[in-house]
Amino acid sequence: MEIKWSDSLSVGHPTIDSQHKELVRRIAKLIELINSGSITNEQMVDVLGFIADYTDEHFSTEEKMMIQTDYPEYEAHRQQHLWFMNEVNELIKEYMINGVSEKLLADIQRVLIDWLVGHITGTDKKLGAYLMEKGVVAPEE
Ligand SMILES: [Fe+2]
Repeated sequence: MEIKWSDSLSVGHPTIDSQHKELVRRIAKLIELINSGSITNEQMVDVLGFIADYTDEHFSTEEKMMIQTDYPEYEAHRQQHLWFMNEVNELIKEYMINGVSEKLLADIQRVLIDWLVGHITGTDKKLGAYLMEKGVVAPEE
């Protein structure tokens, strides 16, 4: 199980790329902790909590910029974000109930790696290009 930043994940938008880098770094940290075999409950709760909070913040950054620029695919993109947040919450619940289970590992691969990489390289790349074309590099406060 592995995720790491590479240029193929860049969407060509400075704010989105830097947030994606941080997210990928934290997910890699989660995997590293699990692989170490000596992860404490506290570390696990910390890193999962961070991923959930950070993702929430990151998605709202993207959504603000979509609203600001009347992005035509806003609704579909937002639905993907909602799906992901729900999956992350399920993942945390799974951990709370069963600890580091086979299901948890499979879900980390399916959601935090496969889905996320797919979302970044598909849905977010389109958004990044659109925002750069509109000259919007950060949300308006
Ligand atoms: Fe997105």
